Amino acid sequence: MSKNTVLITGGAGYIGSHTAVQLITQGSKVIVLDNLCNSNAEVLNRIHSITGIRPEFVKGDILDRGCLDKMFAKYSIDSVIHFAGLKAVGESTQIPLAYYQNNVTGTLVLCEAMAAAGVKTLVFSSSATVYGEDAPVPYIETMPRGKTSNPYGTSKAMVEQLLTDLCKSDPEWSVALLRYFNPIGAHPSGLIGEDPKGIPNNLMPFISQVAVGKRKELSIFGNDYPTDDGTCERDYLHVMDLADGHLAALGCLSDGGVHIYNLGTGSGTSVLEMVNSFQDVTGVEVPYSFAPRREGDLPAFWADASKAEKELGWKASRTLDEMMADTWNWQSKNPNGYDD
Ligand SMILES: NC(=O)c1ccc[n+]([C@@H]2O[C@H](COP(=O)([O-])OP(=O)(O)OC[C@H]3O[C@@H](n4cnc5c(N)ncnc54)[C@H](O)[C@@H]3O)[C@@H](O)[C@H]2O)c1
Repeated sequence: MSKNTVLITGGAGYIGSHTAVQLITQGSKVIVLDNLCNSNAEVLNRIHSITGIRPEFVKGDILDRGCLDKMFAKYSIDSVIHFAGLKAVGESTQIPLAYYQNNVTGTLVLCEAMAAAGVKTLVFSSSATVYGEDAPVPYIETMPRGKTSNPYGTSKAMVEQLLTDLCKSDPEWSVALLRYFNPIGAHPSGLIGEDPKGIPNNLMPFISQVAVGKRKELSIFGNDYPTDDGTCERDYLHVMDLADGHLAALGCLSDGGVHIYNLGTGSGTSVLEMVNSFQDVTGVEVPYSFAPRREGDLPAFWADASKAEKELGWKASRTLDEMMADTWNWQSKNPNGYDD
């Protein structure tokens, strides 16, 4: 690791906490900034249990310039991994202003504070959603951003543009735009994992919450898509692989400019395959029924993940079985997430 002190915005969240563990394990000093709007401070104790080190924690908001300035003055931060943001696609159509405020204005304020502090290395959590609804699969980084179908996706595309313009204006900035596909799984210790508040929006936590008895059955939205079994296909990758992708990106960010990478496995798995795989690996039955398609869901997409392998030396290596086993290890040990 070339960058020693790393600020992780949204570091108490799902992907941020796993990335914090990997960074600490590799010898970086980690500062977590989080307003805990979608996470729980207990995660810091769990990171401590796993790594033996408790990250510095600042409870604060990326929109709070005063808080950011104080933090940059207090810690000698070399680089920033920026996870903080709102991420529920459906919710973003109901409260779009909150999404633009948090995701776009929040990033803008963060970048202003970084520039003022002379910190110009940033890794940003983007999403496969920026390829838009009409993009052919597999998605490859050379394709232009497409037509996004909801304010969440549009906010990610806007931030990508904001960061691209910033890098053009000042060659000292080095930015990685990491386009995640579908992270699932948990740290193999079962101490940290995905802990959605309320009804999960994503498939994997829904499956595991049904399995643990927290929800009655899984609704599978649509079984008449033009896929092999009629259900949607996505590119699921282990959250530990995704975390490692951030370390790889950070290690390669020294030459200025914007660098875009897909982080996915390169293949799609259908909803039914996911359910069957979970049942096979855990031996726990997941009752399900089919429901109408959900508006805005695309039939199938997956990554061309070759650029990250070639340039970052990163490749998703954990198997679907490991993703299922680690998800179940976390969920069964923490039926109510961090609230136990
Ligand atoms: N999980 C996915 O499937 C996925 C896919 C693509 C992209 N992403 C992006 O990756 C990032 C992390 O996702 P995640 O799944 O870990 O989500 P998460 O909600 O678990 O983590 C985000 C964290 O940011 C914090 N936060 C939100 N707004 C904040 C603010 N204004 N100031 C300070 N903290 C704030 C939340 O409390 C939370 O802890 C998000 O930007 C998300 O859009 C996630």
